[in-house]
Amino acid sequence: MGRQSQWLALSVSFCIVVSAISLTLIWPAGSWALADEVQGNTFSVFGTYQSPQRCRECHEAEFQAWSNTTHAKASFDPIFQVYLQQAEEPGECFACHTTGYNALTGQFVLAGVTCEACHGPYRPEHPQESMLVATSEDLCGSCHTSTVLEWNSSRHGKVNVTCVDCHEVHTQKTHAAAATNALCASCHVDRTQDFTHAIHSQADIHCIDCHLDRPSDSAGDAVNGHAVTGHSFAVFVSTCNDCHVASLRPTVESP
Ligand code: HEC
Ligand code: HEC
Ligand code: HEC
Ligand code: HEC
Ligand code: HEC
Ligand code: HEC
Ligand code: HEC
Ligand code: HEC
Repeated sequence: MGRQSQWLALSVSFCIVVSAISLTLIWPAGSWALADEVQGNTFSVFGTYQSPQRCRECHEAEFQAWSNTTHAKASFDPIFQVYLQQAEEPGECFACHTTGYNALTGQFVLAGVTCEACHGPYRPEHPQESMLVATSEDLCGSCHTSTVLEWNSSRHGKVNVTCVDCHEVHTQKTHAAAATNALCASCHVDRTQDFTHAIHSQADIHCIDCHLDRPSDSAGDAVNGHAVTGHSFAVFVSTCNDCHVASLRPTVESP
């Protein structure tokens, strides 16, 4: 709880981070290492943004785990770049696709969702002084706004089975493979006692095929980070239709 309120305090402090450097909208391709240019030019109540390279000096394992993720590439993703050019208020995009974004100046410190986006700016006395470690859904939910809403509505949300219980935060992967039943089965016994579960289990259909429904008609919303990600874990009639449309509701050829 202490850490949670620390995080809230930190989020507020992000808003008063002062940046003396003006960054253009064009980044050196494939590089997020803007730190050299901005190092020492920003400050906040808690510390000074460094860069993932700084953390790497002592945290090689975390760096390796993170460096290939979409978090690391969040500012360079080609699809993001396309939509960024079209955005009326590019600053709105930086709030979640960069680190140390300052709404007042419209500037950010580091490209990508870096270590310090989640752990706060580097503290000068670290490691004697602890970095922030926030494990509540508030951290992830501050950017994953639609996912956290879905999660809130779920039974997992009610009993606080939270993002980090299923996700390895640095790799973004799930703790156990989700495409088999291993992740779900780590807490739920395989459900074969009722007909629906038994018949599909035999057909090698997995939990997330039904309980993590990501409707294809919401794919377009993905570009705004607002896609449905299935985190209500609910099963809908449309879910069954994804596979059974032919038998449940025969399609009619249009003339
Ligand atoms: C509130 C935080 C937030 C804001 C603001 C935001 N995004 Fe995102 N964006 C996300 C998240 C989180 C994802 C990942 C979504 C997912 O997979 O669930 C994402 C994903 C994307 C993707 C998909 C990348 C891919 O390769 O599929 C694009 C493109 C994108 N955002 C563009 C933008 C643009 C352009 C803006 C500004 C108009 C913007 N975003 C503003 C949080 C945000
Ligand atoms: C998306 C948010 C996020 C990013 C980005 C991130 N971390 Fe973390 N990190 C966390 C969370 C949350 C935990 C706590 C994990 C837990 O308890 O399951 C954590 C834990 C840690 C720990 C404690 C040891 C451990 O693994 O539990 C270290 C050290 C660490 N992170 C370093 C880093 C470094 C270095 C980077 C960048 C290369 C980084 N993190 C990027 C969220 C993040
Ligand atoms: C000079 C070496 C060094 C650097 C640079 C460094 N760390 Fe650490 N960090 C440590 C040590 C040592 C620990 C304690 C490790 C342990 O207890 O297992 C630690 C612990 C942590 C933890 C766990 C919580 C805590 O504070 O005890 C996090 C999170 C973390 N570091 C994040 C970061 C991030 C993010 C950066 C870059 C901004 C960074 N560290 C840079 C040495 C360093
Ligand atoms: C600072 C904003 C921010 C925070 C905090 C954050 N994320 Fe993300 N996350 C993003 C963005 C932006 C993307 C999409 C990047 C892209 O595709 O260009 C993303 C992508 C992801 C993806 C991959 C989605 C895909 O479609 O492949 C996962 C999984 C994820 N985040 C989980 C988490 C978890 C778990 C946490 C909390 C520990 C977290 N994120 C915290 C902004 C954030
Ligand atoms: C009960 C386990 C569970 C919990 C809790 C959970 N997730 Fe997930 N998440 C998954 C699984 C399973 C996937 C799909 C992974 C796959 O397809 O390999 C996933 C995928 C995602 C994706 C990628 C979405 C996409 O459309 O590809 C994002 C982003 C994400 N989770 C973020 C979060 C955030 C943020 C939270 C907390 C609010 C959270 N998750 C809580 C299990 C969970
Ligand atoms: C970390 C443990 C954990 C993991 C992993 C996990 N769950 Fe759960 N799940 C729970 C708990 C605890 C509950 C609440 C049980 C209760 O209410 O008695 C729950 C509830 C549910 C419910 C709602 C049950 C109801 O009564 O409405 C569904 C559906 C569900 N989980 C599906 C999944 C699926 C699918 C996965 C894999 C993607 C998964 N869970 C992974 C712990 C977990
Ligand atoms: C063919 C689709 C399908 C598959 C595959 C599937 N489920 Fe379900 N599951 C359902 C339906 C339908 C319900 C009942 C409606 C609901 O609660 O959403 C349900 C209900 C549940 C419940 C709540 C039961 C209760 O007592 O209320 C849990 C927990 C659950 N499933 C877990 C799992 C797990 C774990 C797996 C993988 C081993 C799995 N399901 C695979 C369709 C499926
Ligand atoms: C990911 C694909 C998939 C989803 C989603 C799915 N099913 Fe199935 N279902 C199958 C497969 C494969 C079989 C076994 C092969 C067959 O008989 O068609 C099957 C078999 C069945 C059967 C037995 C049919 C028979 O003739 O033996 C019923 C009934 C059924 N499903 C109902 C449902 C319901 C209800 C839902 C939604 C809760 C659902 N299915 C979701 C793929 C799926």
